[in-house]
Amino acid sequence: MQTLLLSGAELAAAADILRGGGVLAIPTETVYGLAADGFQPQAVEKIFEAKGRPQDNPLILHIPDPDWLGRCCAEIPDVAYTLAARFWPGPLTLILKRRADVPDVVTGGLGTVGVRCPDHPLARALILRADTPLAAPSANRSGRPSPTTAAHVLEDLGGRIDGVLDGGACSVGVESTILDLTVSPPCLLRPGGVSLEALRDCIGAITVDDAVYRPMEEGEHPRAPGMQYRHYAPVAPVTVVRGPPTRAAGYILAHAPPGAGVIAFDEWAGAFAGYTVRTLGPRADGAAQARGLFAALRAFDHTTVTEIWAMCPDERGVGLAVANRLRKAAGFHIIDAEESV
Ligand code: TXA
Ligand code: MG
Repeated sequence: MQTLLLSGAELAAAADILRGGGVLAIPTETVYGLAADGFQPQAVEKIFEAKGRPQDNPLILHIPDPDWLGRCCAEIPDVAYTLAARFWPGPLTLILKRRADVPDVVTGGLGTVGVRCPDHPLARALILRADTPLAAPSANRSGRPSPTTAAHVLEDLGGRIDGVLDGGACSVGVESTILDLTVSPPCLLRPGGVSLEALRDCIGAITVDDAVYRPMEEGEHPRAPGMQYRHYAPVAPVTVVRGPPTRAAGYILAHAPPGAGVIAFDEWAGAFAGYTVRTLGPRADGAAQARGLFAALRAFDHTTVTEIWAMCPDERGVGLAVANRLRKAAGFHIIDAEESV
């Protein structure tokens, strides 16, 4: 299959692909999504095929504004509209009761559905033109780091999908925060572009699902099915080193063999002479770290490094999401520099 690269001027062609039952990678503010018409089950099946995604892992529906919630969900609580008014368009996915006519292939057979309104002008214009909610997971091969440019999408899915709509580099860089509103109090299933602190400021108490911090054990099932899989992984294995940056940098210098890959904050990058270094941005700039994380992980695939060591941000604000993605990229192989030096 030939994969078309479409520009923003070709929205009509992009909408035709979707209405015709095709699969198209689209830009969002978080990461690129692999989209299909959420109400055409055969089109949605092509997403799973192209990604190599397990069938039990449900997809998020993308809508252009809160008025469309009724097209996807039933029994919508007021708190959904409160959150939508504050954070949409933006990187927040709400889990709500599904409408009966949402296809099972979208929800993985669950009674709920994830919905979000992306903050990217091309994505919203495209959904309006296609006039249907778009089912879209991140546009990577299953298990790989999420794509934040059209080139990343082509790296993973070129030849396997109908097209890529190029909307430039993603401005947030980590996926949406997922909040389950079908339980009380609401539960954070995946940290993302909207911080837990901001959500609590808006609606009060929120619990955090265990899968955010630790791997699931045999027989355990996280509430967001996707959180159980190894994820975000570059080809070389990753080790995450937590703790104060100077200690973490010291630990890496003491343990990583020369030539290894290192992911470091800008301020410490100069310490790693002889290593293949990718910087994440300044230590205090969580937004820059989020924007650069997946590109940094992918960049090592174009080098000869056989292992990657990463300094890890603290968990305030978007740092919770960056640290979560790094831990998952490392298969939860984490060292605490404070305890281990
Ligand atoms: O920012 C994002 O959310 C991106 C862009 C493209 O919108 N999408 C994305 O989708 O990250 P995906 O499929 O890579 O991750 C969605 C996660 C998965 O872990 C899935 O298991 C979970 O959301 N999920 C989807 N529907 C759910 C539901 N009804 N209940 C619980 N978890 C759900
Ligand atoms: Mg994904």
